[in-house]
Amino acid sequence: MLAIHGGEPLKKNSFPGWPVTNEYDRSLLIDTVRSGKWSCGEKKSAFESKFAADCGVKHCFAVANGTVSLELILRGMGIGYGDEVILPPYTFVATLSSIIFAGATPVFADIDAGTYNLSHEYVEEKITSKTKAIVAVAVAGCPPKLDELSEIAKRHNVKLIVDAAQGVGAVWNNKSICAWGDAASISCQNSKNLTCGEGGIITTNDDALADAINLMLKGGIRNGSYVSIAQDHTISEFQASVLLSQYNKLESELYLREKNAAYLAGRLHELDFADAAEYDERITRHAYHLFIIRFNSEKLAERGINRDQFLTALNAEGVPLAGGYAPLYHFPCATSAYTERLIGAKIDTTPLKNSEIAGFKEGSWLYQACLLGTRADMDDIADAMIKVWEHADDLRKL
Ligand SMILES: Cc1ncc(COP(=O)(O)O)c(C=O)c1O
Repeated sequence: MLAIHGGEPLKKNSFPGWPVTNEYDRSLLIDTVRSGKWSCGEKKSAFESKFAADCGVKHCFAVANGTVSLELILRGMGIGYGDEVILPPYTFVATLSSIIFAGATPVFADIDAGTYNLSHEYVEEKITSKTKAIVAVAVAGCPPKLDELSEIAKRHNVKLIVDAAQGVGAVWNNKSICAWGDAASISCQNSKNLTCGEGGIITTNDDALADAINLMLKGGIRNGSYVSIAQDHTISEFQASVLLSQYNKLESELYLREKNAAYLAGRLHELDFADAAEYDERITRHAYHLFIIRFNSEKLAERGINRDQFLTALNAEGVPLAGGYAPLYHFPCATSAYTERLIGAKIDTTPLKNSEIAGFKEGSWLYQACLLGTRADMDDIADAMIKVWEHADDLRKL
């Protein structure tokens, strides 16, 4: 019997928790407290240098979070009122709000049906004479198709920004996703694969952009004059200390997530009602902030059920699979009078086919900490899905 109907849940133990802390976090934090240097100290510089070197980029800035990092990039590029910026609707609201706070008009382009990342095929048709940038999100930590997106950006002379908020450690075609495009932005918020509670990282190889961002972070002051409007979103030395410490274990965790994800994907390939998201052969490393499972909505409909009923029953079995994003154009933040006033335009909120299917019918997410479990945990996920499928007839009344 299904757990939701009073049966025994299939999963008997818990998945690993997050974040995972250690003594090194504590010792660096205590060291910082004692140092009296609580801003712009050695820990921040050490992290930025190490991260830049590992990603193969010239410049790295550790900042307050992964929303202002995007806004600083856009502002640093001089993007603002009257400009258009292309983004996918299947992303966290910050991708959208950073564009709006910069004063630019967001333009939604649809996602790829197999990966849920911004599709290069739909980007090109959205480019106009006002387009200044494309923001490609590495949804779930999966690198977007950066060869194609870079080519389009170059051909149309627009900037390419990688929203790698979920993709720290991801590598596309042998190059860190943070080294692709004109700049990249990472989030180090509590749930993320590299976290210090709240934090963000900007990477770029563009000296002029780095200079503009540096200036904003330093109060906009040059030679004693306020030369630019500033946004001091510098990370504190406390957060930088935790970031530096947590960074030590990122590689081994990325390895474990990939190993478990490959095994789980293998188990899911055996099912006909669900599968793992597509995996492009040019992905050198997927960061797996999320493991996306795509349901086959037609198969579910044949049994008279839908994704949300399935997820409710699966959660009761002890497998925390979530429904994921609803496309951003459905929310009041995209249509509010305040948003319109900030950008002086209406955002086109016409629904886009693949984003609708992913958001409401087929998409689902397993959080990264589950992938830090054992092979038995991965088997539990697949077995719980099979159990729910076998009892699909009992779900219709949910
Ligand atoms: C795709 C994406 N962009 C931006 C952000 C914003 O990051 P933060 O929460 O650190 O501001 C997030 C955070 O979840 C995200 O997932």
